[in-house]
Amino acid sequence: MAESLSVSGTTKKEKYESLLPQINALVEGETDFIANLSNIMSALKFGMDFFWVGIYFVKDNELVLGPFQGPVACTRIGLGKGVCGTAWKEKRTIVVEDVDQFPGHIACSSLSKSEIVLPTFDKNGTVTLILDIDSEHLATFDETDRLYLEQLMRLIENLKQ
Ligand code: SME
Repeated sequence: MAESLSVSGTTKKEKYESLLPQINALVEGETDFIANLSNIMSALKFGMDFFWVGIYFVKDNELVLGPFQGPVACTRIGLGKGVCGTAWKEKRTIVVEDVDQFPGHIACSSLSKSEIVLPTFDKNGTVTLILDIDSEHLATFDETDRLYLEQLMRLIENLKQ
């Protein structure tokens, strides 16, 4: 259960490999999507020590803030706006090493310096939600984050069904 969640390892790879099976176990047996997403956000934030971790749902042609952990954030983001709206529009993961270099970046917090944004898809290939993770440090995210977080997005897609 959640209380016993603890991440071991020193490298990022080791930490994800420790955390992801625990996330699988955390959501096993629970069918409520929002409850599961909420716990996943907490597990990611505290397991990986990220600054901000949250979900944006695609709703009525906008992204609308969902379960998150961290400082308060922008509630709505348009298609093609910011990193999240661009990941939605282009249907791909986006890694931003320096948010000041990303045209149109939306600064929900001035402390955020780098981020990774990943979409999930339904069976028709339509984006259903976006995961946004922010760091207070430059160039926090790389191919290792992409690899493991894309695995997590497949888990989230399966939870929804
Ligand atoms: N920086 C994001 C907005 C969301 S917040 O960082 C939580 C963006 O540019 O889309």
